[in-house]
Amino acid sequence: MLFAVGCGSELHVAKCGNGYCEKDNAETCLSCPEDCTCACGDGVCTFGEYCAICPHDCACTIPPKTPPMGFNTWNHFHCDVSEALIREVAYAMVEKGLMELGYQYVVIDDCWQVARDPDGTIVPDPERFPSGIKALADYVHQLGLYFGIYTCAGDKTCQGRPGSLGFEGKDMQTYADFGVDFVKVDWCYTKGLDPKERYRIFADAIAKTNRNMVLSICNWGIGEPWVWGPYTGTMWRTSMDITDSFISVLFNMEQTLPWAGFAREGHFNDPDMLEVGNGGMSFDEYVAHMSLWAMLASPLILGNDVREMDDATITIVGNEEVIAIDQDPWVVQGVRVYASESGQVFYRPLAEYGARAVLLLNISDEESVVGFSLEDIGLRNGSARIRDVWRHEEVAPEEGGGSDALRFRVPAHGARMFVVRGEEEVPPSGVSYLSDLKWMYSVGSLGPVERDMSNGGSEKGDGKRLQIRGKVYEKGIGMLASGRVLVYLGGRCKRLEVVVGLDDEAKGEGSVVFRIKADGRVLFESALLTLKDEAVEVHADLTGTRVLWLEADAGGDSYRDDFADFALARLECE
Ligand code: GLA
Repeated sequence: MLFAVGCGSELHVAKCGNGYCEKDNAETCLSCPEDCTCACGDGVCTFGEYCAICPHDCACTIPPKTPPMGFNTWNHFHCDVSEALIREVAYAMVEKGLMELGYQYVVIDDCWQVARDPDGTIVPDPERFPSGIKALADYVHQLGLYFGIYTCAGDKTCQGRPGSLGFEGKDMQTYADFGVDFVKVDWCYTKGLDPKERYRIFADAIAKTNRNMVLSICNWGIGEPWVWGPYTGTMWRTSMDITDSFISVLFNMEQTLPWAGFAREGHFNDPDMLEVGNGGMSFDEYVAHMSLWAMLASPLILGNDVREMDDATITIVGNEEVIAIDQDPWVVQGVRVYASESGQVFYRPLAEYGARAVLLLNISDEESVVGFSLEDIGLRNGSARIRDVWRHEEVAPEEGGGSDALRFRVPAHGARMFVVRGEEEVPPSGVSYLSDLKWMYSVGSLGPVERDMSNGGSEKGDGKRLQIRGKVYEKGIGMLASGRVLVYLGGRCKRLEVVVGLDDEAKGEGSVVFRIKADGRVLFESALLTLKDEAVEVHADLTGTRVLWLEADAGGDSYRDDFADFALARLECE
């Protein structure tokens, strides 16, 4: 079944040049300019107009709010890239329904470029891309997909092709002229260069083109890109290159997990592209890989040959329930709440109230039983419905345990993933302190978020008394930025009184932006506060708020001294 772009009818070969715009046959202003006219600017997104060509009329999803989804050539094809391949892949993405599932970006990785011409303009490989990159981008757009390309911050790419060092502005303008929507910038041949500075140059160069292009920072976690990445690009790699093995999946997951607090709407940790379908892992391992990436709110960039997918691969990358977890609009990255040799438990709150995505992972060589309680995932103990998003059915715990233990069998080198729907804890009437309530979720950079003490070190309860500019607070919350706490209020609370500032425990360079949000709406955002600044008293009106968010943002520089206090944090509820 072929899907016509954006409309669901069949896709036929267009007959450009007959003077008639056959919309049903997918003729568009882009594919058949002789026949069809583009009415960009009339405010209506007509068939054949897309964000990429008529941004004034059609809804643009770039910059994306949720993790980008698409395809990239590298994992499967390495340097064997060509315009024929990209066309076939793009077509297959439409034909196999991947585009409709949200896989939108088609990205050529390394090796498309061979030289620079005398004026410094990058030259694509004329044998592999005889029609040129612009024509290819047009084709990809015509299908309703976005088009992405690759370069490197060094003077050469990782495969020795011309890099962008010294040509950043020129290259970004060339890409914008091609119609590029996504730029992956690698980090080979960059000895002595500072990644934060160099990627800023790319971000500024992209801004100067006036074309929306996703900046995908690929420097493998060097120089802590999670710190400045949210201020520079859309996504940043957290680890070295993935390989088609379970150990690599686990390694990249471990490298990404600590930086959960830095991911937010429009900005994502990137544990690298998917290997599902490349043949090096078992079905269960690939299920674990996909589940983990969804738990980590990771970009889902297919790295297999999407033209040739077996049923198992389609089942995994096409699982709408798992994709929906990855794409949850809150972009709250999952955290691990339990780990032993035979089992690990991760969860993330979803925008649907009372819902959590839960992942049980078994990295051992034997099937094991892994359990969790509702309390572990920030819900009230009691009853809950558990939907298995791989089996697509409601399930009951499979092994006996205490009344609060929900135990499931998890295959060796495998995972189970659920959406658990239960009841949120509600705050008591009258005055209470956030540090005494149960939280839906919390994450900080170094160690757990602390109650009534500063962050301290990496262990729970290792902080000191909360203290800002010499003043001690008995109550409050301490965390190292970037971190976040979500508390369910259920519309029952009226007021929040909180004092924000850097804890005296911070030394030297500490600086934090404090944010308080009500159901995603920003109620308060501080300036970038340092140790020299006075504490800021905030009185927030919480009327109608279901979920309160407290965020301490590292502010684009180092996080290591960013000991953030939400002191007092007193709530008045009905
Ligand atoms: C680096 C990147 C990979 C890929 C290759 C291409 O290793 O991390 O994702 O782009 O370069 O050469």
